[in-house]
Amino acid sequence: MVATSVKLEYDIKDIGLAPLGKQRIEWAGREMPVLKQVRERFSQEKPLAGIRLVACCHVTTETAHLAIALKSAGADAVLIASNPLSTQDDVAASLVVDYGIPVFAFKGEDTATYSRHVQIALDHRPQIIIDDGCDVVATLIQERQDQIKDLIGTTEETTTGIVRLQAMYRDGVLTFPAMNVNDADTKHFFDNRYGTGQSTLDGIIRATNILLAGKTIVVAGYGWCGKGTAMRARGMGANVVVTEIDPVRAIEAAMDGFRVLPMAEAATVGDIFITVTGNKHVIRAEHFAVMKDGAIVCNSGHFDIEIDLKALKSVTDEVKVVRNFTEEYRLSSGKSIIVIGEGRLVNLAAAEGHPSAVMDMSFANQALAAEYLVTHQGKLEPGIHSIPKEVDQEIARLKLQAMGIAIDTLTPAQMEYMNSWTSGT
Ligand code: ADE
Repeated sequence: MVATSVKLEYDIKDIGLAPLGKQRIEWAGREMPVLKQVRERFSQEKPLAGIRLVACCHVTTETAHLAIALKSAGADAVLIASNPLSTQDDVAASLVVDYGIPVFAFKGEDTATYSRHVQIALDHRPQIIIDDGCDVVATLIQERQDQIKDLIGTTEETTTGIVRLQAMYRDGVLTFPAMNVNDADTKHFFDNRYGTGQSTLDGIIRATNILLAGKTIVVAGYGWCGKGTAMRARGMGANVVVTEIDPVRAIEAAMDGFRVLPMAEAATVGDIFITVTGNKHVIRAEHFAVMKDGAIVCNSGHFDIEIDLKALKSVTDEVKVVRNFTEEYRLSSGKSIIVIGEGRLVNLAAAEGHPSAVMDMSFANQALAAEYLVTHQGKLEPGIHSIPKEVDQEIARLKLQAMGIAIDTLTPAQMEYMNSWTSGT
């Protein structure tokens, strides 16, 4: 499977899938007008000329457009998967064949292969890392200290990755700038909320084909991803229960009209469980023990640690594949629990991830963050940096334009009022 030529190395499932991948990449492009404009400017200006870049992302049709934009900017880019189950093999093939981008990723790669791909990416001696979950950066710090001097900076896509970067900063090991793409308004308000909301249900439906109306769906975690998931599950007619550990978010969920319960109680009433907390063992032995027969569990958080599958396996007699990406665990108690996507991101394992229209803004942020790191090389302190407000606003403006939506502008009098404090009651 590993092919080596003078110029282009890759490790993908099947090069013959390229024509299908190209067709699907082009389809996704219709919904990605903002990234298209960024790419067109990059082609002219080449802001990343000669920069060695590693992108560790879910290898999807949307990521293909990011990779193409980075290459258009002149980057010497290598793409690896940020999850063993999320790669779209046809896209990986097309990126290699049609766009000349080295890809090391295939759907179903084991963790040893995943780690080998991270090492191959680091062998590229990246100056810029575009990370989704922080695995490349964490490996760089733990295993390739000597390469840190080559690094201009990193950008991070996801909440989980930002939490890891914050921990690195506290531990004093984040000695280079990291751009926080996740917290850009044009990222998390849309990608985390509407992207995760829609694609999580899409994954559950594709995997099981069950009716959601009338079911009790338990959403663990009420961050932006949880909010979107709960909102869309309600939209499908489900009775939604939210679990939280944060008191403010729990109030928010209650006032948004959801029933809020501790997991110990929610476990007894749920038909479908979706974890989106970013933390480990949110569903564990004591919860499996009280679940209904046939309860479905899945995860839409970044890592496969939210559902304690080891605990489930320890009380299981038999695991049977019942549909694609869907396994039935027959417990020794006689009850069954259904697990989708091996507890990995259900929206990417069993569906295609977030729709292109939201990834358009997320990846415009990623591309512009990479450019920002290069144009500000040597000027940024080590640590985590927000995406500049102007960049966020520009992405929003371009998206609105593409959506054909016009908005108002402040009059001079309004502008003056907003900048003054003297007029009151
Ligand atoms: N993360 C979630 N959905 C995604 C997608 N469609 N492409 C890349 N990364 C994603």
